[in-house]
Amino acid sequence: MTLCIKTSKKDGELIRKFLHDKELLEPTLKIKSTDNDLIIPLKRQLTNNEMRELEELQIIHSIITYDQLENARIHPKSHLEILQEMLTEEEFVLAPRSFDTIGDIVVIEIPEPLWEKKNLIGKSILDVHTSIKSVYAKTGKISGVNRIRPIEFLVGEEKTRTVYKEHGSRLVVDIAKAYFSPRLSEEHNRIATQVKSDEVIVDLFCGVGPFVIPIAKNTNATLYAIDINPEAINLLQENIKLNKLVGEVKPICGDSRLIVKQQNLSNIADRVIMNLPGYAIEFIDVACDVLKKSGGIIHFFEFVKDEHPEEIIIADLTREIQKNNREVKEILQVKRVRMSAPRQWQMVVDAFIV
Ligand SMILES: C[S@@+](CC[C@H](N)C(=O)[O-])C[C@H]1O[C@@H](n2cnc3c(N)ncnc32)[C@H](O)[C@@H]1O
Repeated sequence: MTLCIKTSKKDGELIRKFLHDKELLEPTLKIKSTDNDLIIPLKRQLTNNEMRELEELQIIHSIITYDQLENARIHPKSHLEILQEMLTEEEFVLAPRSFDTIGDIVVIEIPEPLWEKKNLIGKSILDVHTSIKSVYAKTGKISGVNRIRPIEFLVGEEKTRTVYKEHGSRLVVDIAKAYFSPRLSEEHNRIATQVKSDEVIVDLFCGVGPFVIPIAKNTNATLYAIDINPEAINLLQENIKLNKLVGEVKPICGDSRLIVKQQNLSNIADRVIMNLPGYAIEFIDVACDVLKKSGGIIHFFEFVKDEHPEEIIIADLTREIQKNNREVKEILQVKRVRMSAPRQWQMVVDAFIV
């Protein structure tokens, strides 16, 4: 038998608020609605004071006991709440705490010992996050020239294409066809907000356009956006149409080293974006070639495994720039973007080169 308050439907909201404020509502049972009345389950007896306050509200009610209330479905707040019930203690310790959300797709890293539970883990995410349509598991490292991560479909809709929104831009992304990382969202915005009007910019490894699109949304820059992956360039073309741009983005498919030569892009850029960590250092000569002889800015992303990654990346960049008979006039910023592996940082340096 459950202790309840019975009241008329017209006073329902007032009394529900009163009971909620006093923490008297029993959350595990549903409120019962009859033709005219509501039967509201209580956690405990009302105190004399609470009875007096309720009378002051002048709500007609009666305190009854009732045994036909249905159980309420308590919505879990996180996938971990669900998994805690479904996994053993040892398994739960290993359960992934976070994941990448790209539009309505989640990509999650499942530890080896939990691989058999991968669909259950995926389902726990779908159950909590109603805006998520598909869950994929990482099955390997980002690799190959196109920098694509191998993934396996877990649950939901089997689709890899979605629209990702960040800082007012919309990007069509296909996680199976071209590189994209939501973890660089702050970097996309940070660089976009530095660009001044009329700049000429070359993005040597543009992907689907997360750097060039926000820049072209905000300023009338001219942007040469190069990528070797034709799928990335196709998606960039869609993104150019999808966003209202004031600048001009020129998508070019090919190896940036060859494209710069073939299309005669030497000495044109006020700014060069180089987000190809692991290999960007090999393209410093290309960046020096496109940067205006009078000087320009380079945004150089690299991985560094060291306790002092700032010193290492500045030294590496300075050395390579000097090899190309140019000079680092000023380090504008050096920053740890994210931890990319144990003891390895993805770094970025903004440098003014003359
Ligand atoms: C780490 S992803 C970065 C993409 C994009 N800038 C972003 O932040 O999402 C590197 C990109 O470089 C492209 N790429 C690799 N080697 C290239 C080359 N030699 N010339 C042009 N693009 C290249 C890959 O296809 C990939 O899209």
